[in-house]
Amino acid sequence: MTQRGTLGVAVIGTGRMGADHVRRISEVISGARVAAVVDVDAERAKNVASGVEGCTAYTEPDAAMAAADVDAVLIASPGPAHESALLAAFERDLPLLCEKPLTPDAASALRVLEAEQRLGHRRVQVGFMRRYDAEYVKLKALLDSGQLGRPLMLHNRHRNASSPPGFTDAMLINDSVVHEMDVTRWLLGQEITAVTVLRPTPSDVAPEGLADPQFVVLETDGGALVDVEIFVNCGFGYQVQAEAVCERGTARIGDGHAMVTNAAGRWGGTIAQDFVERFEEAYDREVQAWVDATRRGEVTGPSIWDGYAAAAVCEAGVRAQTEGRRTEVELIERPALYR
Ligand SMILES: NC(=O)c1ccc[n+]([C@@H]2O[C@H](COP(=O)([O-])OP(=O)(O)OC[C@H]3O[C@@H](n4cnc5c(N)ncnc54)[C@H](O)[C@@H]3O)[C@@H](O)[C@H]2O)c1
Repeated sequence: MTQRGTLGVAVIGTGRMGADHVRRISEVISGARVAAVVDVDAERAKNVASGVEGCTAYTEPDAAMAAADVDAVLIASPGPAHESALLAAFERDLPLLCEKPLTPDAASALRVLEAEQRLGHRRVQVGFMRRYDAEYVKLKALLDSGQLGRPLMLHNRHRNASSPPGFTDAMLINDSVVHEMDVTRWLLGQEITAVTVLRPTPSDVAPEGLADPQFVVLETDGGALVDVEIFVNCGFGYQVQAEAVCERGTARIGDGHAMVTNAAGRWGGTIAQDFVERFEEAYDREVQAWVDATRRGEVTGPSIWDGYAAAAVCEAGVRAQTEGRRTEVELIERPALYR
């Protein structure tokens, strides 16, 4: 790790998230600069690099990681490409921020977890950015304070204006509900033990082949019940809401009441249209926290254990969906490195 003033970051994958992280590191946060970008699409990498001073474009992650001015790696390639990039960075003992999912399934997540354990220290922060959202942070602090007593239930709503082409039932779990699976584990400090997926008659607006919306029920080892409405073609915008029901009160976030207008006999506000808008500040805080911790020589935030646990819950979720029954989550015992 560098002791130089500024952390040199290689961003792997320069698509929607990667290009946004390049902008964020270059223009929004402090303490880091983008030294390299990597994309299998050489043109895309070159285009992104051309907008950043001193940034070199590569098509091979390994070549970027070997560069003298690269001190840390941000992975924003598609999930199936994460494992090889993570293992290559471990070879050089480089610190990483890896976008969710850690890897696409529990078996590959376990391989990465074992590889990090062989290093003997944590190297990876996983990109579950809701943990950096101001409202979620407030809810977590309130639950942790014990003021409302023990959380009994969490009600979640996760709605997108429309789903991208080719979105499948499995992606509904792996790409969307995975965020509720992570915040459930984090907010409650409990592991998810079983998943059930129920479906109403699909919306007529849902694309052919996608059962939308769906209703996911999670059970935890602390005896809490969690429900998630996932509706990816709601039409009106991007909405993420959570309500904790506790022994002595409830707490709700995500109503989006930052500004309420009164005009022409109506009152109202606006609804974010996508996750980039809704969670913009959370992404900024997530990357700043990673840069700050890395410069201190520390690793904080969601760990590989969290990435592995989320992958295991997703796997149970997809099985629950396809088999139409309550499915238990299979987890290994939590290793000492992650306790
Ligand atoms: N945290 C969040 O809220 C959030 C939101 C959206 C996406 N994501 C995650 O971010 C990652 C990227 O998603 P996206 O929406 O930006 O995808 P995208 O398709 O827009 O971009 C992916 C980029 O990676 C490149 N690529 C593909 N294989 C590669 C490889 N082996 N090495 C280097 N580059 C490669 C592609 O050419 C493309 O430019 C995924 O893991 C996704 O799940 C996270």
